[in-house]
Amino acid sequence: MDGKLVAGEVKKQVAVHVQQLEKHGTVPFLVTIQVGDDAASASYLKAKHKAADEVGIRSESHHLPADTSQDKLEALLGQLNTNPKVNGILVQLPLPPGFNEERVIERIIPYKDVDGLHPINAGKLAAGHEELVPGTPKGVIKLLNYYKVPVAGSRAVIINRSNLVGRPLANLLLNRDATVTVCHSKTPNLSGMTRTADILVSAVGKEVFQIRAEHVKPNSTVVDVGLTRVDGKLRGDVDFEKVNRVAGYITPVPGGVGPMTIACLLENTILASSIQIGLKV
Ligand code: GUN
Repeated sequence: MDGKLVAGEVKKQVAVHVQQLEKHGTVPFLVTIQVGDDAASASYLKAKHKAADEVGIRSESHHLPADTSQDKLEALLGQLNTNPKVNGILVQLPLPPGFNEERVIERIIPYKDVDGLHPINAGKLAAGHEELVPGTPKGVIKLLNYYKVPVAGSRAVIINRSNLVGRPLANLLLNRDATVTVCHSKTPNLSGMTRTADILVSAVGKEVFQIRAEHVKPNSTVVDVGLTRVDGKLRGDVDFEKVNRVAGYITPVPGGVGPMTIACLLENTILASSIQIGLKV
């Protein structure tokens, strides 16, 4: 499954929506915040701003030092919340040690929360109402849709229980009538689980391959959300060469889920802008 290709399609649609919003007098505006100097965060944000540029979304980044206080960060969010020109707010995670991440996320006004992490947005998703949904799981669903992978009635296994990936993805798949199992570091007999999966999603991010050929059901769909740098090269959780011979569909790393995350962030910025001006999309 070619994430670059599908992300390109999503971005084309986003660009059309940007033009529609401009006709209504709104230039969608995304603001990102990075605290500290984590190199991976900086490179993700660079890619997000570049992609925003490509589709005509205006964007701005705030880079704060690692020793910024919780109060100062929350004050900035307060200003962005009330600034009518700002449509989307994203705080790149993880924050440096010492921050209360939960309080930061809750400080973002839900209708500008383009990461879909605010408990209001996460709660809506869990209740079956999808509005602003985190980009990575939304991107996984778009990939499955594009390649017509049957979801309803399938058995999905997710290795990850984070608020950014595993939990929202479980809800998205459940909303589409999959039978979902969420696995984590304390799951017994993990390979027994993964071998039952019609759709297997792995988001672990460790240096050794988590998913090898013997872990995968023949002809199933394997989605690799893992991202690790090994000897300077980006790598996922899945031993691509070997699993590719067993699986029906598989995503590469890089070029799989990563570009989809970014495309969905852009789509969320359009959705947030539309919600704010009361426009149906
Ligand atoms: N860190 C890793 N992925 C993400 C993401 O999608 N959003 C934010 N805010 N932080 C991240």
